[in-house]
Amino acid sequence: MTSILLVGCGKMGGALLSGWRANGAADSFVIVEPNKQSIPNIGGNSNITFVQDFAGIPSTFLPDAIVMAVKPQAMNDVVPAYTGLATSALTLSIAAGTPISFFEALFGTSASIVRAMPNTPAAIGRGMSVLCANTSTTDNQKKLAEILMQAAGAVEWIADENLMDAVTALSGSGPAYVFHLIEAMASAGEALGLKPELAAKAALQTVAGAGELARLSSETPSVLRQNVTSPGGTTAAALDVLMAEDGLRALMERAMTAARDRGRELGAG
Ligand SMILES: NC(=O)c1ccc[n+]([C@@H]2O[C@H](COP(=O)([O-])OP(=O)(O)OC[C@H]3O[C@@H](n4cnc5c(N)ncnc54)[C@H](OP(=O)(O)O)[C@@H]3O)[C@@H](O)[C@H]2O)c1
Repeated sequence: MTSILLVGCGKMGGALLSGWRANGAADSFVIVEPNKQSIPNIGGNSNITFVQDFAGIPSTFLPDAIVMAVKPQAMNDVVPAYTGLATSALTLSIAAGTPISFFEALFGTSASIVRAMPNTPAAIGRGMSVLCANTSTTDNQKKLAEILMQAAGAVEWIADENLMDAVTALSGSGPAYVFHLIEAMASAGEALGLKPELAAKAALQTVAGAGELARLSSETPSVLRQNVTSPGGTTAAALDVLMAEDGLRALMERAMTAARDRGRELGAG
């Protein structure tokens, strides 16, 4: 029997809960959520109990994992109440920019803490989460953290928490780069004379279709690119611009370095 305490059932907590319900990740859930509008309709599911605050948690409920899914700026107010439960449970935090040391300062270094960085496609079960555990986390607890985050999509681990800012710059902030790519392709299509509706649809469908093709293919993105690039053809003409020395790769490196550095600044307070 696995029991989960979810603290915060907003966009990300709610997405995780619907994934857990679909994949049977745990047997019983208590969800702490003060905002009635965030509480999903769970029908007559008796394995899930919603409470409004910490005081509402049944005293007999001893979770295997506490999933912290409140806004980072609320962590200082919310987390200390869970110190008693956190001594025997895994704490899995998805709060951006909140380091493992924040929890260790409250719960002690013998408490098991996993910090996860998911991204927005988690809402449709297609996210990317990168996890980092402290040394007190057991292998079984790491497995549980992995199962819980797999409800939101793919999961990988890093050993060095300092790399979390790089992860944030890549997969955490990355969906916005792709949304902007769609915008940029659509406006370039308009500049070439296409109607806005057609340009928007063609850009969205091209990015979504190419992403899905890359995901499902056994070939690398490089090979897929080469496969659709005839020498001297139209794609090659565009790639000559995009792959120039000051092209997309250099621009992406600059953009992601800025994101990584901003993450470091925010983390330093
Ligand atoms: N959304 C993303 O794409 C994303 C990506 C990566 C990481 N994250 C992380 O995920 C966490 C949650 O983000 P979100 O976008 O899901 O935020 P959200 O939609 O605002 O959800 C947070 C929920 O927690 C509730 N809450 C506030 N105080 C609480 C308390 N004392 N106890 C229990 N619940 C409480 C909020 O209620 P009220 O509405 O009443 O305040 C809200 O429903 C954040 O730490 C964020 O950094 C999010």
